[in-house]
Amino acid sequence: METDQTIQPSDLDEAWKVALAARKNAYAPYSQFKVGAALKLVNEDTIIPGCNVENASYGATICAERSAIVSACTQFGKLQIAYVVIVTGESKPTVPCALCLQVIAEFSTPDTLVFSGNESGITAKWHFKELLPKPFTSFE
Ligand code: THU
Repeated sequence: METDQTIQPSDLDEAWKVALAARKNAYAPYSQFKVGAALKLVNEDTIIPGCNVENASYGATICAERSAIVSACTQFGKLQIAYVVIVTGESKPTVPCALCLQVIAEFSTPDTLVFSGNESGITAKWHFKELLPKPFTSFE
């Protein structure tokens, strides 16, 4: 996978491994669709993991991406996402759901990168603006 000049391939590989490990902890007894996520934050070395956590009341489920964002916010308060990696068990790259995109928008720029992959590696890369060109904002 070709990366941006600002992203070190070794850092991206580490983020993919963090997402892969997080996926192992996914709690998905209802859908069996396990997702792992990893966030690289601007000005922070730590990579933040997240996994989906489902609930018998299906709507109470939290996706891996939002789980990682809640954790990052808990740890660091104000945050700026440098890039997001998501890992699923699919051969075709999974795009974050619209709810997660709206939450990612809160802490990203239009050029923030979103990577998607599986156990074999990263298979897709998008700029955030390609996935959600017009997020809701109450400030414009
Ligand atoms: N899921 C995620 O974790 N991230 C997404 O972006 C899409 C969907 C989870 C939610 C649910 O636990 C399972 O995948 C099936 O929808």
